[in-house]
Amino acid sequence: MIDDIRKPIQSELRRYEDVFRATLQADNPLLSAALAHLAHKLGKMMRPTLVLLCAKEGGAVTDAVLHAAAGLELLHTASLVHDDVVDESLLRRGQRSVNALFDNKAAVLVGDYLTSTALQQITLTGTLEAVQRTAWLGQQLADGELLQLNNTHLTTFAEDAYYEVIAKKTAALFATCARLGARLGGADEATVYRLERFGHLVGLCFQMRDDIFDFDESLNVGKPKGNDMQEGKLTLPVLFALNTCTDAHFHHIALRVRAGEATRLEIQELVDFTISHGGVEYAEQQMQRLSAEALDLLSGLQNAEVTHALTHYLDYVVQRTV
Ligand code: IPE
Ligand code: IPE
Ligand code: MG
Ligand code: MG
Repeated sequence: MIDDIRKPIQSELRRYEDVFRATLQADNPLLSAALAHLAHKLGKMMRPTLVLLCAKEGGAVTDAVLHAAAGLELLHTASLVHDDVVDESLLRRGQRSVNALFDNKAAVLVGDYLTSTALQQITLTGTLEAVQRTAWLGQQLADGELLQLNNTHLTTFAEDAYYEVIAKKTAALFATCARLGARLGGADEATVYRLERFGHLVGLCFQMRDDIFDFDESLNVGKPKGNDMQEGKLTLPVLFALNTCTDAHFHHIALRVRAGEATRLEIQELVDFTISHGGVEYAEQQMQRLSAEALDLLSGLQNAEVTHALTHYLDYVVQRTV
């Protein structure tokens, strides 16, 4: 599947990786150790892959496209480094998180450094829209994470609040990758918009799949499991189960989860309740619905190879096990 996704952009991905790795060099010993640690496990590269494929639909993977891809992956990396501080998470990409290897102080500053390096790469595109859009994106990512923190105070279980968080913390990044890739590759306005919408839908699916993982003990995705509820987060599967059941007992536990007061046993009880009330199946169905909408958008593209690769990209996001 990964080969099908990468086929049209194999040489471009190698050029991208050179540009990306070159940004992870520094003289300062602490910074350089942290950057080397990050460079050691690059992750799935979902976002740069999307930038390059959308650029290919536009026509050309220029140097500006490579800088956009590197900038957006750097912003993603910065958001993960900060997210692991916020979530007090010790494992990332199957290795220690930056906060675990060093400490929170270093991780906050490494994240800041990566954010500025991201903006530096984006300015190298020479395109004001790319700079504006990336500044907006940084706001969306932080806004989404803050909204999620704020949602721990909610006493209702509406799905809207969940969708708003994932639109900001995850989908905005995929939408921007698609938009800037298409724009810098030279696509027309209608295609830029079509791919941006595709990116948004793929991003929603990506986070929904990630949230479903949290209910599956059998998968090894290189980061801790069962963490969402430990962090006070109620995601789509459990929201559905709570909304379809009037048993005050589970509503009470859910509010204790949000308040960070639930015991391990209570969390396990809520997980079992979610699974037995079809919460995971429901979230899968909603993800499939959005993914069908995303697939429809691909029928309007020009480049058959890119259409094929993006179809596989979407399948991978929905079906992935890592
Ligand atoms: C993790 O993203 C953050 C989420 C949006 C769930 P990825 O799963 O794409 O992370 P890497 O880059 O492959 O590690
Ligand atoms: C991912 O959020 C980080 C961002 C999208 C900014 P989560 O906390 O939900 O994801 P993981 O599980 O740590 O990757
Ligand atoms: Mg996290
Ligand atoms: Mg988080």
